[in-house]
Amino acid sequence: MDTVKSYERTAYCAQFGVDNIGQEVSVCGWVQGVRDLGSLLFIDLRDRTGILQLAFDGDTPKEVFEKASAVRAEHVVAAKGTIRERSSKNKDIPTGDIELEVKEFFHLSASDTPPFEIEDDTRVNEALRLKYRYLDLRRPSMQQAIALRHRITKIARDYFDENGFLEIETPMLTKSTPEGARDYLVPSRIHKGCFYALPQSPQQYKQLLMLAGFDRYMQVVRCFRDEDLRADRQPEFTQIDLEMSFVTEEDIMRINEGFLKRAFREVLGVEIHTPFLRMTYAEAMDRFGSDKPDMRFGYELKDITNEVKGCGFGVFSSAVSAGGSVRLINVKDGARFSRKEIDSLTEFVKTYGAKGLAWVKLADTVTSSFSKFMSESEMDSILEKAEAEKGDLILVVADADNSVVFASLGALRCECARRMGIIPEGEFKFLWVTQFPLFEYSKEEGRLVAMHHPFTAPMEEDLALLTDDPASCRARAYDIVLNGTELGGGSIRIFRSDVQEKMFEALGFTEERALAQFGHLIEAFRYGAPPHGGMAYGLDRLVMLMTGRENIRDVIAFPKVQNASELMMASPAPVEKSQLDELGLRLV
Ligand code: AMO
Ligand code: AMP
Repeated sequence: MDTVKSYERTAYCAQFGVDNIGQEVSVCGWVQGVRDLGSLLFIDLRDRTGILQLAFDGDTPKEVFEKASAVRAEHVVAAKGTIRERSSKNKDIPTGDIELEVKEFFHLSASDTPPFEIEDDTRVNEALRLKYRYLDLRRPSMQQAIALRHRITKIARDYFDENGFLEIETPMLTKSTPEGARDYLVPSRIHKGCFYALPQSPQQYKQLLMLAGFDRYMQVVRCFRDEDLRADRQPEFTQIDLEMSFVTEEDIMRINEGFLKRAFREVLGVEIHTPFLRMTYAEAMDRFGSDKPDMRFGYELKDITNEVKGCGFGVFSSAVSAGGSVRLINVKDGARFSRKEIDSLTEFVKTYGAKGLAWVKLADTVTSSFSKFMSESEMDSILEKAEAEKGDLILVVADADNSVVFASLGALRCECARRMGIIPEGEFKFLWVTQFPLFEYSKEEGRLVAMHHPFTAPMEEDLALLTDDPASCRARAYDIVLNGTELGGGSIRIFRSDVQEKMFEALGFTEERALAQFGHLIEAFRYGAPPHGGMAYGLDRLVMLMTGRENIRDVIAFPKVQNASELMMASPAPVEKSQLDELGLRLV
């Protein structure tokens, strides 16, 4: 192996072009591949920017040629020489018109044969990629995703800085509080039997920073939640978190639209239209069956509860009499779906709790799974409500539980749009969803829990409902949705202690319990709390959508897999007994 006193890298591989022809330069990186043609030898040299061809021929000093012949894929090398025009050009790469005529060559490090080839269209399974993540990250698409993530983060810091925000760090070792996801706990050595919790978000700290007078706070911050993993959920993830004093929903939305506009323009060259579309939670559920509707296509839900309430089809009429509803979507041109495909859609909605899927297919003839139970006029009124035309496929779900109807049809409209191939690529449809319910009913706990968190303010006009009918009380909460993904969310907070007390009451907290859990906050609010509000983005989700990836794992350098382990370090892992002893812990 060679050592060098100085690398003197002139520039990265893909930064050279025809303008550099004739220049003496130094480069370094990894060997992508070697082509040995006997008297000619070519090495593709790769670094984080791309590939530069190194050329060796009859004019190359003999010892340089021999040293270069010995290298293999993923060895680390450096080279000095002259940029020259290539005799046979490669149109597939940006540096395809030039090559480096090598005069000096340094073999810096060898490599075992890698477990997979370092290239984008690798077919290798993800577990292997993640075990060797440092090799996987060498692939150009991963390099691009991680670099783009950096740029988005930098734009966030610059943008919020220019708008008067201060980035302030908050503790990672904090306290477990109820009303959230499951915590990751860290045992304390000094306080045996006590635990820190890793933050699920800096929510309380950022509100206290408003009380402290900082007025505009932001932080790019790691958050931890012990929940089941999904394509857009990791146990540790990053938020762009912000909070502002003396603001309304309008101010918060405006500043965030400005951030997204700038990020999309600077990173993707895409102009997004502001202000974004807004919709209340109630309207989003009614029209799309979801609080994060994908606005890139139609297939809206239609309510036919009234039309079918007295019909002869038990599935429909019994759902209505049990207090539920019957709704449908019209899949335009969907009549070309075969019976087999409709069966697979039925299986699909069953995963959302639906008991079945009824359908009407308007092909050359009209066929239906339930028309035999209906009168002609009942069928007509359903088709009219569906705005059905020839070629359409009407899909109906009935259930005694409205949330099942919404969840299954909300997911079905997206699935049908995917199967119909009607989702436009490269389009970004933003939406603010507003006026969320303040509470939702938790079947597990048998009580109302805060839908967002217990510091979210009720809408002024719903204040009386907080005590009279909490389940119908709406919140000053909003989510930002992009192409059917919840990108971020936030709210205007409660800053009056009388309202906060009523909130705890509605959540079923005794005064003692509220004080034990949130005493610091309740006390703090007695010392001059400014009106405030904020929100947080999932940075991983933002990067995922901006890079067109389908999983946030692909935009996180070292992500965790489905069972929450990290395959490269093999975490989590057992620890020494002495470590447990020191912490006063015993395993059961
Ligand atoms: P919320 O819980 O809605 O709000 O989180 C804000 C955003 O963080 C992202 N996110 C996640 N991303 C990846 N993996 C996860 N497990 C995960 N969980 C959440 C989502 C989500 O929209 N403190 C409040 C914000 C506020 O009120 O200001 C909060 O954390 O994109
Ligand atoms: P069945 O009477 O169970 O044979 O169902 C008749 C048709 O109604 C079939 O197409 C079923 O898939 C459909 N179906 C059953 N349950 C429901 C439901 N809850 N909502 C909509 N369609 C249903």
